[in-house]
Amino acid sequence: MRWSKTLIPTMKETPEGAEVPSHVLMLRAGLVSQLMAGAYTFLPLGVRSLHKAMRIVREEMDAAGAVEVEMPCLTPINLWEQTGRVEAFGDVLIQLSVKRQGKQVRMALGPTHEEPVTDLASRYLTSYRQLPITLYQITHKFRNEERPRFGVLRTSEFLMKDAYSFNDSLESLNASYQAMYDAYCKIFTRCGLDFVPVEAESGPIGGDASHEFMIPATNGEDTVLRCPMCNYGANVEKAAIGLRHNKKSEAEPKEICKIPTPHAGSIEAVSKMLKCKPHQLIKTLIYMVDDQPMAILVRGDHEVNENKIRHVLKASKVELADPATILRVTGAPVGFAGPVGLKEAIPVWADEDIRDMVNVYTGANEADMHLGRVNPGRDFEPTGYGDFRNAAAGDGCPRCTSGILEEVKAIEVGHVFKLGTKYTDALSATFIDTEEKIRPIIMGCYGIGVTRILAGLIEISNDQHGIVWPMSLAPYEVVVTPVNVSDEAMRAASEKLYGELKTLGVEVLYDDRDARAGVKFKDADLIGFPLRVVVGKMLEQGKLELKWRWAESSEELDVTGAAQKIAAMVMEEKRTGAKFAARKR
Ligand SMILES: Nc1ncnc2c1ncn2[C@@H]1O[C@H](COP(=O)(O)OP(=O)(O)O)[C@@H](O)[C@H]1O
Ligand SMILES: [Mg+2]
Ligand SMILES: [Zn+2]
Repeated sequence: MRWSKTLIPTMKETPEGAEVPSHVLMLRAGLVSQLMAGAYTFLPLGVRSLHKAMRIVREEMDAAGAVEVEMPCLTPINLWEQTGRVEAFGDVLIQLSVKRQGKQVRMALGPTHEEPVTDLASRYLTSYRQLPITLYQITHKFRNEERPRFGVLRTSEFLMKDAYSFNDSLESLNASYQAMYDAYCKIFTRCGLDFVPVEAESGPIGGDASHEFMIPATNGEDTVLRCPMCNYGANVEKAAIGLRHNKKSEAEPKEICKIPTPHAGSIEAVSKMLKCKPHQLIKTLIYMVDDQPMAILVRGDHEVNENKIRHVLKASKVELADPATILRVTGAPVGFAGPVGLKEAIPVWADEDIRDMVNVYTGANEADMHLGRVNPGRDFEPTGYGDFRNAAAGDGCPRCTSGILEEVKAIEVGHVFKLGTKYTDALSATFIDTEEKIRPIIMGCYGIGVTRILAGLIEISNDQHGIVWPMSLAPYEVVVTPVNVSDEAMRAASEKLYGELKTLGVEVLYDDRDARAGVKFKDADLIGFPLRVVVGKMLEQGKLELKWRWAESSEELDVTGAAQKIAAMVMEEKRTGAKFAARKR
């Protein structure tokens, strides 16, 4: 491709509203263009990289034995109603109503495709002889994200590879799951991503086992806890806590007291007013646990984990109580609840760390009031203790005894779930087993954010000049840059090299623009082509200049036989990714 014949709107300045490197660089390098919040056009260079990511995903899915289908984005609303996911997704589900033959027909744009694919399975997968099978597709997904941001990392419309396995037994499900897990490792490795698979909660999607594939990145929206000793890794919703490293205070319990805290109803406001640290406060939250109000206590610097409440209390529904319920059971508005003197005798569950707290602050169950010098065991006895909070850096590893958990920010690029029969039960997708019994099909589901692969890669692979692409995802493998296109010798040599590289199957962009060399070099670095070939002054000595994007300096190359040599280098790097992997960061 000739630069002058395509569309590459590079930008010098940082675009307004772009905060993270991937967003800034994708806009500046002319890969994408924003249509509206959460919706991006992929421009010619962006499309090329996107197609490469899709091809890698497709090749590994096929190699793992998955079979490609393509389901519509438009889906009938009744499928989502049958599984209860109209409520579960809430505003995230994009619903529409269209008129057909005088009647309103309700639809939803697929945010994922468990429902449509289970509907498909219910029609065609009827016998154990057809199982197991894994179907996959690479299609657009729609989610009305509350806050689309960070460019294509989180958008309302994005490209996802979603796969679904249909199995007749748990062993078979485990095998399908493992095949997808292994395929994901191959995909992300081929994409040049440094990734970690971590244990994850299955959340509203249901089921019991799941892993997320995470790219550690400063701007990641997810938090992962990792053990440097044994490599245990889990996201913050899932991470268990091993040993808690609390030192019990030696202080003598003092007499309880009441302290006015006008308008201070948050941990931050209270600790500021009382000049204490959040860990000297007990945070009391009123939850509806299977529709029963309960108080959950955690230390002020900790976060309540709703999944853990669900596990410890063996509940199915856990949600924060509304202000009216809070007023009723505590006698105070939101922000002043505490375990001492609750108005209603509701169960009080405390996190393990509460046990060791001495002379601490809690809400007083009275507007604008807190209690001081509260002592668990003396002033209140919880119904029970348990693990009710998110793990945090410094907690003991739950897997090995010696490790201390570390917190890492990360970007989720992929997710594998064992679903079980949640959807096949709801949509009656059954099969006849070997004993001629009718049973629900067992499912697994497996997603990859294909657009997110690109943004994730850029997030971890860039420098002050721009993007640094691996050969596998680069929009073009080589850029040929004549220093001066009005110089006939340079122009002719560049044209020839461009033609030969194309013939040899190299993806080459020929910078035929009549622009200053400095401008061309800057653009090439900004976009981040792995290999740049400069046709300049050294041509008189029969030499070209070759530079890997991540290398400090350039190499000389004889013009004679240059195309073959470059093609061989490109093929080698494409095959191994070794130079990219060894780059300095
Ligand atoms: N809004 C989004 N924009 C871009 N990619 C997304 C978005 N939401 C999800 N993805 C990608 O799709 C994959 C599968 O989706 P899923 O696990 O259902 O998403 P989530 O965990 O965000 O609910 C995620 O691992 C992620 O890579
Ligand atoms: Mg997920
Ligand atoms: Zn460990």
